[in-house]
Order: sequence, then C-alpha cells, then structure tokens
Amino acid sequence: MKYSADDLLQKKSKEKIAVLTAYTTPIARCLEQAGVAAILVGDTVGMVEMGFSSTRDVTMAHMIYHIGAVRRGAPETHIIGDMPYNSDEIPEEALRNAQQLIEAGADSVKLEGPKFDVIRHLVAHGIPVVGHTGLTPQTAANFKQVGKDEDDAQRLLDDAQGIAEAGAFMVVLEHIPDGLAQRITASISIPTIGIGAGTACDGQVLVINDAIGMGDKWPPFSRQYAYVGQTIRDAAKEYVEQVVSGTFK
Ligand code: KIV
Repeated sequence: MKYSADDLLQKKSKEKIAVLTAYTTPIARCLEQAGVAAILVGDTVGMVEMGFSSTRDVTMAHMIYHIGAVRRGAPETHIIGDMPYNSDEIPEEALRNAQQLIEAGADSVKLEGPKFDVIRHLVAHGIPVVGHTGLTPQTAANFKQVGKDEDDAQRLLDDAQGIAEAGAFMVVLEHIPDGLAQRITASISIPTIGIGAGTACDGQVLVINDAIGMGDKWPPFSRQYAYVGQTIRDAAKEYVEQVVSGTFK
C-alpha cells in the first residue's frame, strides 16, 4: 500500500516509520517487497553511488534520473525526492524544481535547513515537504555531531518547530544527541525520522549502501544488516579464478 504524506503524518506517536534510501530499480523493488513505509531518493546518491566526495555535486538531472529508476522499481511505495544543493534557495525556483521531482515520480520532496518560506511556498502549491535539520550535509563543514551545547540545541529545536509550523509533514533529524532528538520529537506535531539521532524518534532512515555493507566507509552511527560488498568480491573472485584456470563452463 502506498502511503500518502498524510498517512505518514498520522503515524506520529502510533507506529514507528521505517525509511531507507534507494537510488536504483532493483534495490527499490527489494525495499518495496520488504515493506518500508517510504523510500528516500537522497542526494547521498552522489557519494555512495557516483563517487563524488560531497552531496553538493548532485544536480537536478541526477535526481530526476534516480527518482525515475526508483519509481519504476517501487510503484506502490511513497517516494521522497531530495532537493539538490542550490535548487531550493528561492521559493519560485524551488517550486519549479520540486515540480520536476514530482513529475519524475516522487510523492514528496525533502529539503535541508530552516528554509521556512520555501517550505510554505511548496506546501501552498500542493507539494508535500519533508524537512531536514541537525547535520545538514549540503552546507556542513564536516560530518561531526551537532546540537551538543545548549545554544546549538535550542537553535535546532527552533528549526524543527519552524519546519513543522511552515507545513512540512515529517522532519529528518541527522546526527544529533539522543536527548535532543527526544526533546524535539516530544515538542513537534509531525513525525521525526532519525539518522544517528537515537531511538526516541518517530522513525528511522538509513542509507541503504551503509545498511547492506555496500560501501568503503561508514558514518559512526550507521547500522549494517548485511555484507553485500564482500559477497560481490567473493563472487567476482570465484568467476575470475574459473575463467583464468579454464574451469569456467
Ligand atoms: O541524502 C540522504 O540520503 C539523506 C539521509 C542521510 C537522511 O538526506
């Protein structure tokens, strides 16, 4: 069953929300079969699939391509399309770009930071929005945890409240202390989706490549449920040995 933005919003305090990222058709198909509530086509695609060192290299064209691929693999799952760096600064421009992500197959869009005017503008034009606060990789200087001192924690609490008041239906909390995620979750009316933010959030999101062990470096907070990279290396090694030794049939 494909959840609408409102279905996801209604899960707050009732049912935990499991979100994973996906970037390709076969992975999206697996995630739909596994029953995730939503798939995030994140701009992490740039780092985990495209070899860039930052999400800032990801463009609208990349996102449109990957959202289309994920939609073809998961026709019955809510898809959140990430707004790439610099695509969502000005409300009118953000709306044009968000509409393109929706046309490509997304049901909602996610954008980083306290861009309250942009969120209000998108929502007013019928685009469901997921906010993102805490560590916001498009603008962060590094990937260290944020919100550790009281001033920073208060800033993030204000941002999350502003994002909810602007009309977002969910908000991602990335790499903040567990206690702060708990405070934010208790103080806003929309579901919080944590990544590196403890277990008190209304849901969790993981980058699929981290979760299945398909990468070469992992953030400190990632969880691994499989070691697919090792499986691929073993399979390729066996194939190479068979071809080279003449035992390949
Ligand atoms: O781009 C992404 O995959 C994300 C997650 C890390 C939440 O924003």
